[in-house]
Amino acid sequence: MTDEAADVVVPAFPDELRELVDAYLVEIRFSTDPGIAGLDEAMRYSLLAGGKRIRPVLALATASAIGMAHEDVMPLAAALELIHTYSLIHDDLPAMDDDDLRRGRPTCHVAYGEDTAILAGDGLYAEAFLHLLTRQPGEPANLLRAAAELAAATGVNGMVGGQFLDVAAAAAPGPDGLRHVHELKTGRLIRASVECVLLIEGRQEPATIEQFETFAGELGVLFQIVDDILDVTGSDEALGKPSGSDERLGKRTYVTEFGLQGARQLAQDAHRNARAALANTGRADSDTAQLQQITDFIARRSF
Ligand code: IPE
Ligand code: IPE
Ligand code: MG
Ligand code: MG
Ligand code: MG
Repeated sequence: MTDEAADVVVPAFPDELRELVDAYLVEIRFSTDPGIAGLDEAMRYSLLAGGKRIRPVLALATASAIGMAHEDVMPLAAALELIHTYSLIHDDLPAMDDDDLRRGRPTCHVAYGEDTAILAGDGLYAEAFLHLLTRQPGEPANLLRAAAELAAATGVNGMVGGQFLDVAAAAAPGPDGLRHVHELKTGRLIRASVECVLLIEGRQEPATIEQFETFAGELGVLFQIVDDILDVTGSDEALGKPSGSDERLGKRTYVTEFGLQGARQLAQDAHRNARAALANTGRADSDTAQLQQITDFIARRSF
């Protein structure tokens, strides 16, 4: 990253949670039909390429924070990562960001062709909901609420709408317009990674839910501000994806809008706000330890 950031000790990510997620994902098969093996392969190629697993880990850490066992939300966690992976495959397509490296490997369309990559994304999205609705334990009414939240978070008024604002450069001018893009294209799925856990557990107290929502909302925007910064300061090797992609495409980012220093300041502000909201959830400090760890990692990450 930068010289000044080189001194910062990056707090450890909860690796034990990432390992649980990876072990669960590797067992998932999408089809045993020999004719469809090529699609299954392309889906698993992108899914198992080794991402940071921030969204599923966030779900597991949220479960810890409210006294649920990790296993109790694993199908939800997997569904979040399937959806995230689909969004990356489509984001990289020539018609979108036209990037050829992802998670340190050739992107799905480079490896398998555009047609298969489009279908791999479509497949991962549907299989995510199938997995959630058939594997996730919980009260049916709670599960339904979680599935609806996940659909809303990734639909037209969520991630996909945000991606449209981004590719069509259709966001309102000014800082609020840009924040709106980030809230939708990235923030909304990150928020759902926390909220769906609360919904599955059937948590009702509005005050707690609101504070978790504030926390997760700040965390989502923080994540994308840092992504924008890393696009400028990171290397292909460290990021596992092409740096400078935003500049090449003339994207509006926190760096183009506020400059590198301004973006760093706003990331610090979002980090502080996220930590404050987490402290206000009413959970003991020890309960939210993993969420604190993830929050600090997201703020200071270099990949
Ligand atoms: C990258 O997400 C895409 C954005 C939403 C900015 P991640 O940085 O979480 O990517 P992986 O999952 O670790 O590859
Ligand atoms: C992508 O944002 C967000 C989604 C995939 C929904 P970016 O285009 O900035 O993500 P990267 O930098 O390619 O990972
Ligand atoms: Mg993009
Ligand atoms: Mg991109
Ligand atoms: Mg980016």
